[in-house]
Amino acid sequence: MCGIIAYVGSKPAAPLLVEGLKRLEYRGYDSAGMAIVTDQGTRILKAVGRVSVLEDQANSAGDVVGRLGIAHTRWATHGGPTQVNAHPHTGTTADGHTVSVVHNGIIENHSTLRKYLAEKGHKFVSETDTEVLSALIAQLYHGDLEAAVQSALREIKGAYAIAVTCDREPHTLVCARKGSPLIIGIADQAYIVASDASAIVSHTTQVITLDDYQVAKLCAGPNDSNTAAGGPWSVDFKTTTIDNVPVPLEIQELELDLEQIELGSYPHYMLKEIMEQPEAIRDCLRGRIDMREARVVLGGLSARTRELVRAKRFVLTAQGTAYHAGLIGEYLIEDLARVPARCEYASEFRYRNPIIEDGTIITAISQSGETADTLAALREAKERGALALGAVNAVGSSIARETDAGVYLRVGPEIGVASTKAFVGQVAVLTLLALYIGRRKHLPELAVREYLAELDRLPAHIQRVLEQSDHINQCVQQYIDRNNWLFLGRGYNYPVALEGALKLKEISYIHAEGMPAAEMKHGPIALIDDGMPVVFIATKGSQYEKVLSNIAEARARGGRIIAVATEGDDTIHSHADSVFFVPAVPEPLQPLLTSIPLQLVAYHAAVLRGHDVDKPRNLAKSVTVE
Ligand code: M6R
Repeated sequence: MCGIIAYVGSKPAAPLLVEGLKRLEYRGYDSAGMAIVTDQGTRILKAVGRVSVLEDQANSAGDVVGRLGIAHTRWATHGGPTQVNAHPHTGTTADGHTVSVVHNGIIENHSTLRKYLAEKGHKFVSETDTEVLSALIAQLYHGDLEAAVQSALREIKGAYAIAVTCDREPHTLVCARKGSPLIIGIADQAYIVASDASAIVSHTTQVITLDDYQVAKLCAGPNDSNTAAGGPWSVDFKTTTIDNVPVPLEIQELELDLEQIELGSYPHYMLKEIMEQPEAIRDCLRGRIDMREARVVLGGLSARTRELVRAKRFVLTAQGTAYHAGLIGEYLIEDLARVPARCEYASEFRYRNPIIEDGTIITAISQSGETADTLAALREAKERGALALGAVNAVGSSIARETDAGVYLRVGPEIGVASTKAFVGQVAVLTLLALYIGRRKHLPELAVREYLAELDRLPAHIQRVLEQSDHINQCVQQYIDRNNWLFLGRGYNYPVALEGALKLKEISYIHAEGMPAAEMKHGPIALIDDGMPVVFIATKGSQYEKVLSNIAEARARGGRIIAVATEGDDTIHSHADSVFFVPAVPEPLQPLLTSIPLQLVAYHAAVLRGHDVDKPRNLAKSVTVE
């Protein structure tokens, strides 16, 4: 995934674009670039690495002025992260003007188009699909940028969110989307286009969201030549389909506070997002627990209650951390709702000709709502007749829009690349879903009441776990030079072990494996040598004694045991070298707590190893390509 931002208005564009790129940097940070357009032509700057390198370049050039510009921060797909491959890409029109494009997505038929355009005389300098799109727009340009973009997009297969300029029209910005996110902010005498709201909210809360195959033409220019540097400027926008059919779009109010996306006093977004989990989960649960009736209230599902209660099978689908939440959902739905459930990697599910029987419910789980494989798996199951549900954080995202019904996570924006509060939000929503169905089927009111009372106490429980952050840091310091870790759990805590290992891998670059504790004996036990950290989720529950046996096996081979245990378990210290405690809750609710010390393990390990916690190497916040 990449981040795009564009500006047309009465202020100098470059500083505004840099500020926006910094907010979008979590979406990709291999390279960055911008194009600034004036009456005199187009000025392009590109840099490999972080946005700050581009910023230095713009500052030292000193003459990057202009009130129309587009910019991009890249996570490489086609072509390596080089200056040449960085966006914007350009094409030259027949009358010698420059068309510039920034793009998030993938043009599938770029090879065919590249060949066609090369025959027409276009000289390509990069390996990217985006340069093909720039050349195509330039080829189709006959004095009207909007028309050229519409024509080009009719030839394109694939996904795109684009912002386009042409220096023959120095007050016009054209943007469009299909399959990749894009919103337009309506600011004072200006328009700001961005991949997500975080880059817009400091300028305006008035936005329009484009739908697939829609194009916006945004114009801003001085009322007369004397007011070019100040105001007033007149602004005007128009939205159409790529077939040039007008589409009136509503202006909406953005539901996002600047404070939610500011780092505040925290050193990293990941730590901020871990620490704000009590509040995030309070927001997630607000209004969804009816203690009086001992019922779960999920407005987004109410129209589908009959289908949910009659469901014969759940297929949960997701990638990465969201997949681990889905695995917990599998346990929850079978255990509490008594409906067969299977969680599948979306990337596997979509290509294996899945059987969708009557009464199947597909549930896509995603923080961003834009993960390409998850979206494709959802579509695949829908086409085969499944009812489509979503458990999504990003409001209005592609997955949220394509589901028949759903439950938003409501945990607020997640900016750290390593997903933390969204994971806990996903598990909380899946717990609510399982109780929603279970209560309407066989679960006794008393049992539901007990679960709901514990959910109500969850923010306070999470707070208690977070208070152990310093203790967890001290423990991690002892093992920080170890390059192999194991994470083991049983039942509900097996997916938590997988998630603990993923967190450690992705931000600290330490090799870690997660697995069912009993599986260790079937091979991985051979890995355990003297001093290897082995993390066990050893909370009180139906399999506690069995986990203690697994701990003994690992310890006998020299493993150093780090246990996540239940408060009040006085004997655990005799089994483990270090212990992190979580409050006692019923087994189905344990992952909501046991995952939290493991987030802190990963965070502290990454900091101790000196890594860039919020921007781990090779990763981007969400993967919008297959
Ligand atoms: O936005 P999504 O929840 O669909 O993203 C899915 C995964 O890409 C994501 O969870 C990824 O694994 C994170 N880096 C994990 O921390």
